[in-house]
Amino acid sequence: MRKSAAWPREFPGANWYDRQEERAVLNVLRGKAPFRYYGVAQPRYVAAFEEEAKKVYGVRHALAVNSGTGALMTAMTALGIGPGSEVIVPAFLWVSTVGAVVHANAIPVLCEVDDSLSMNPDDLECKITPRTRLIVAVHMAGAPCDMKRIVAVARKRRIPVLEDCAQCNGGTVEGKSVGSFGQIGMFSLQINKNITAGEGGLLVTDDEGLYLKMLAAHDVGALWRGGGLVPDPRYVAWGTGRRMAELIGAVASVQLGKLARVVGHMRASKKRLKAMLEDTPGLAWRRLNDPAGDTACCLVFYAPDRGRAARTVAAIRDSNLFGASRLAEYGMHIYYNIPQLVHKAPLSPAGNPWSLPQNAGIVREYGKGACPTSDALFERAVILSIPSTLTRPQEQVMAGILRGAVLQA
Ligand SMILES: Cc1ncc(COP(=O)(O)O)c(C=O)c1O
Repeated sequence: MRKSAAWPREFPGANWYDRQEERAVLNVLRGKAPFRYYGVAQPRYVAAFEEEAKKVYGVRHALAVNSGTGALMTAMTALGIGPGSEVIVPAFLWVSTVGAVVHANAIPVLCEVDDSLSMNPDDLECKITPRTRLIVAVHMAGAPCDMKRIVAVARKRRIPVLEDCAQCNGGTVEGKSVGSFGQIGMFSLQINKNITAGEGGLLVTDDEGLYLKMLAAHDVGALWRGGGLVPDPRYVAWGTGRRMAELIGAVASVQLGKLARVVGHMRASKKRLKAMLEDTPGLAWRRLNDPAGDTACCLVFYAPDRGRAARTVAAIRDSNLFGASRLAEYGMHIYYNIPQLVHKAPLSPAGNPWSLPQNAGIVREYGKGACPTSDALFERAVILSIPSTLTRPQEQVMAGILRGAVLQA
């Protein structure tokens, strides 16, 4: 994808780095305190990040980890996902979401998305079986899922919900933060995300038992409490070495303080872009479950058909300023573009999880066609990023290119 150096890149949080992040990182280095629990000086940033996260997301517990993928895997461990578990995931996701299920030796079950490009609550209901142990709601491309309906389905069947908020940091549903609807919510701080420390992740929950299980599992399998490791038989686990480093915590805690401003800037840009593109023939916006809660890092629209979507993408790329993709070609965000899933790559030569006797009889189809309604939407959907530092003149240029691309397609 060709891009002009003059155009702001779509790294929302990184675009907002300034002296604050620099100062925090320097404090860690000068204090010789790069480890979250102790150092030459007393470390404070990872703990401060967790404290602030509780307020920002409105939850009782927050645990910083070293990546979003690690957060997903830690959550699966705490929720007891293992052989014999079916875990429902949407057709539009990221490879890590489904990878965490496989790493737990469980079997992913695909659910259709609707025109909001998030989990279709009607299909979710159809996909539940007596072996369903978890529903993973993924808030994709900046916008929240229909959490009210998903939670209602889950409650009725007494199945926990894990919210993957990696792509929707700062998103809300009726004013309440994503990540606070399910039993556990997770966020990523990887560079493409609304706030970033390059790498990093966060787990949030209101459930103390789940928090303590995650605390043990993400570390060495015991609880870090009051300055030492406390062996508590209820939470003994095999640890996974996913602690957040203090240098990452330093950047993360500053970035968390900027989240509302970063998202606010993208929302304002998106609102103006949509207004400028209003009534463009051949352009239908992605439906938003809660327009006010969209983090606005992405612009997604439907062309009338596959051909027009492809020609629109080509014309946008020809502008040489910024890129766009048809969702069908949006890499490992689409289930059938994930080779390890389609081919059911095993975790070890033993063939697990697919070969495990506990997983026998679970239907597992991941090739194109497994979710036909979603497939049809992916063919026509066009996605592009809204940089977090767009100026008004840049917004006008962007709207002009988009309108021209749609009209000439
Ligand atoms: C939807 C989704 N889930 C999980 C992840 C994993 O996060 P990380 O890259 O921090 O491991 C990402 C981002 O990469 C993502 O987009």
